[in-house]
Amino acid sequence: MSIDIISLKTEMQARSNHLRNQGKTIGFVPTMGYLHEGHLSLMRLTKSMADTLVVSIFVNPTQFGPGEDLGAYPRDFERDQSLCRKEGVDVLFYPTASQMYGPRFQTFIALEQLPLHLCGISRPAFFRGVATVVTKLFNIVKPNTAIFGQKDYQQLMVIRQLVQDLDLDIQISSGPTVRESDGLAMSSRNAYLSASQRPSALTLYQALCQTRDHLENGLTDAKALIQSAVSLILSFPETVIDYITICDPDTLEDIQTIDRPAVMALAVKVGKTRLIDNMMLYCTRA
Ligand code: PAJ
Repeated sequence: MSIDIISLKTEMQARSNHLRNQGKTIGFVPTMGYLHEGHLSLMRLTKSMADTLVVSIFVNPTQFGPGEDLGAYPRDFERDQSLCRKEGVDVLFYPTASQMYGPRFQTFIALEQLPLHLCGISRPAFFRGVATVVTKLFNIVKPNTAIFGQKDYQQLMVIRQLVQDLDLDIQISSGPTVRESDGLAMSSRNAYLSASQRPSALTLYQALCQTRDHLENGLTDAKALIQSAVSLILSFPETVIDYITICDPDTLEDIQTIDRPAVMALAVKVGKTRLIDNMMLYCTRA
């Protein structure tokens, strides 16, 4: 199966125009590379939704804050390329930072409400960077449909909102979180974890499952549920909690009692590695 690797945005736009003129639909999976099963699952889903599958690999500098891991972010283009080939990716868009951001770049997309919660609090520039690069990628790749992982729940909400607010004619879908066999959500950043940090990393998922179990046993008070998640996570070494929230799935505002569907989302640093995870919670006794 042949794969085209395109680095120039003008060339990508020309390819997309050509495909669309031929009546082909374009499905798009944006990534920052160092691909794992989570990314690959999104590619498989997209293949079933569109004629042509375009994947981008771009470690986007504008979504990293000062002191974050932009320089250290894991990269392995050779491996990524062969994985994309195996998945039947038609076009791999692989631009440089200078290709994406010209010298006088100054136009950003910033949402007003959703970034005030969860990851946006400790990473204030993050969603501005994500919203900007995804909008740019949409204008370059011109997809009919694009897919994002539920693992990055707030990011998915931000993308859905910007597509709605800016009237972009793109269908947004989501794919479920793919986990390692022990439950750890797959992430390119898992590569940073040492073997001894692994049990601490696993506490994110354990805390989510524990909350789901408590809820099934009738405990619906968000404060109590969060407190018991905090205790579990902090009982493991090298864990620093950024946030643990039980919130409304649409507004991301905190909720006090789980008497309707909610999302539990958390971010925990294990050593230097910041991990996130989330789970939908349903009150079974309502
Ligand atoms: P990245 O972290 O590489 O993730 C690319 C896509 O894969 C995102 O939609 C993310 O939610 C999804 N993903 C990551 N881990 C997953 C897992 N375990 N299961 C299912 N899906 C998973 O997210 C980004 O890149 C960037 O912010 C990006 C959107 C590309 C903008 O730069």
